[in-house]
Amino acid sequence: MGLIEEILVRPKLRQKLWAWWYPFFTRRVRAQGIDFLNYAFQEEGTVPLSLKSEDEPNRPNIQLYEHVRGGVDLRGLRVLEVSCGHGGGTSYFTRTYQPAEYVGMDLNPEAIRHAEARHQAHGLRFQVGDAQKLPFPDATFDVVINVEASHCYPDFPGFVVEVSRVLKPGGRFCHADLRYRNGVDEWVAALAKHPKLRLDEMRLINPEVIRGMELNTPRYVAMVKQALPRILHRLALDFAGVKGSRLYRDALSGEMSYRSFKLTRR
Ligand SMILES: C[S@@+](CC[C@H](N)C(=O)[O-])C[C@H]1O[C@@H](n2cnc3c(N)ncnc32)[C@H](O)[C@@H]1O
Repeated sequence: MGLIEEILVRPKLRQKLWAWWYPFFTRRVRAQGIDFLNYAFQEEGTVPLSLKSEDEPNRPNIQLYEHVRGGVDLRGLRVLEVSCGHGGGTSYFTRTYQPAEYVGMDLNPEAIRHAEARHQAHGLRFQVGDAQKLPFPDATFDVVINVEASHCYPDFPGFVVEVSRVLKPGGRFCHADLRYRNGVDEWVAALAKHPKLRLDEMRLINPEVIRGMELNTPRYVAMVKQALPRILHRLALDFAGVKGSRLYRDALSGEMSYRSFKLTRR
């Protein structure tokens, strides 16, 4: 078993590792203005997404967010994004779709400080919080967004219970992430068999994410080399999923599965 897979399948180890890694990483890349921390998405044969010039540099990452949103109209709604990272998707969705309220929440206080300093828009706010214990009353949100983060959580079924609790009846849960082979069944079952959620759609998106990884490779290699000491380059490039890395190869072979899901609160 490789290091990445090892970390992904051991709940206590992964909780400790991510709680250390992300604040460390945010401090190291703060000066580079990194707004997204995902592997990105590039679909073939579709009309290119129309973006403002300020969003163009983040096109592959925004395309993942747009795929996860999947046409759910955020206008005038109350939206929670769990694990918003540096807030790039949070900011893009708020500026583009004018929800009544959009809360970007993350466990990493450095990321929340970074996001607050970089992104301001009407209805947008950031706060520190744990996906396993969402700091909101029952039936607060119309939509919950969650992009490429749940593999860090120690208890995914517990997270899904929390999402169903904070969603209003009829509310939507837009989710995407990755799992290694041995974690896929538990992941899908927690979503498909939850009594308060209806699974509307599930899609395997390895090909689109692999193209996203390829598009992001030059940027992510430069970011890692600039921000981290040489001794961490190999590991960081694996986590960054650059072309040729372990994660990229696992996505190609199908050992790692990247999926998107749309669900509705019953
Ligand atoms: C790969 S990043 C994705 C960030 C963002 N969604 C994006 O696409 O740019 C994963 C994020 O999950 C956050 N995270 C990890 N464990 C968490 C937890 N228990 N509760 C909330 N956020 C958590 C990390 O701090 C990190 O920002």
